[in-house]
Amino acid sequence: MSFELKSPENERAAIQVPKEISNLTKPFNGTLCSQDGDEYDVKNNIIDILGGQPDFSSLASYTNHWKLTATIYEEIWRKRSLSLLTGEDFPIEKEHELLIEWTEPKENGLYLDLGCSTALYGRALKAAQSKADVVGLDFSMQMLEEARLKAEADETNLFFVRADGKEMPFFSKTFDGIVMGGTLNELTEEVKVLNEAHRVLKENGVLFMMHLIKADAWYGRLLQESMGIGGIKFWTKDESNKLFKQAGFKVEEQITRGIVCFTRLKVD
Ligand SMILES: C[S@@+](CC[C@H](N)C(=O)[O-])C[C@H]1O[C@@H](n2cnc3c(N)ncnc32)[C@H](O)[C@@H]1O
Repeated sequence: MSFELKSPENERAAIQVPKEISNLTKPFNGTLCSQDGDEYDVKNNIIDILGGQPDFSSLASYTNHWKLTATIYEEIWRKRSLSLLTGEDFPIEKEHELLIEWTEPKENGLYLDLGCSTALYGRALKAAQSKADVVGLDFSMQMLEEARLKAEADETNLFFVRADGKEMPFFSKTFDGIVMGGTLNELTEEVKVLNEAHRVLKENGVLFMMHLIKADAWYGRLLQESMGIGGIKFWTKDESNKLFKQAGFKVEEQITRGIVCFTRLKVD
C-alpha cells in the first residue's frame, strides 16, 4: 500500500509516498513533492520532512542525534533495559509478545512507531503481520539511519520519516495503531505529541505505550530527579493517566512492573 503524507506547508496538500520507498534492499534517493509543489528530500529511503537540524531543547534529545548513541542503543541498552527497570527477568521477547497481543496488527493496517529510535517495535509489528505497513518516525537522522540498517538486515520493509512528533506530517485518522516505546519520557512537550497521536489515530485505533513511571523508593526518586536535568521526565501512574485523558485517550489495559508501565490506550 502507498500512503500519503500531509505537507507541512499546506495542510490540505498531500505528498504521495510510493510503496517502493519501504523496500530497503533498493536504495531510494531523490525528492517527494506535494500537490502544491513543495519538495522533501529522500536520502537512502528516509523521507526528511524537517530539513536542517531540529532544536536541541534537552540533553536527552541532543544525545539522540549522536551517531554513537544510535549505534549502541539497541544492543547495549534497549534489549536489556526492561530486566533492569522491572527488577525481574524481562527479555525483549516478552515485551514483543505484549506489544503484539495489545496492538493486534491487522492485514492492510497502517501503524506508526512514534519516536522509533532503531525501530525495535516497528520491526516486531511487521514480523507479526507482514501484510501491514509500518512507518517509523523520529526527529534524529542518526537513529533513522541505524533503524534503516537494522530493518534491511532483517529483510523488513518499513517506511521511515524524519519529522517532529509535535507536528506530524500525517492527515487525521491515518493510523490503525501507534506504538511508543519509552518515547514519552524523552519528550519536551508531551501533551502536544499526545494530542497529535490522538489526531492521527483512527477512531477504533490503539495506542500501545511503554513508559517509565516515578520510583517508589527515595533513592530511585533521587536518581530520577537527577535525570530530569537531562530532560528525562517521570510521572506516577495516576499522573500518566491524567495526561492520557487530557489528550483524549482512555486506558483499556495497564500493567506495571517496577518502574515500567505498559498501557493499551484507545481514543475516548
Ligand atoms: C527512548 S527513545 C525511543 C526508543 C524506541 N521507541 C524503542 O522502543 O526502543 C526516544 C526517541 O524519541 C525521539 N524523539 C524525542 N522527541 C521527539 C520528537 N519531538 N519528535 C520525534 N522524535 C522524538 C528521540 O530521537 C529518540 O530516538
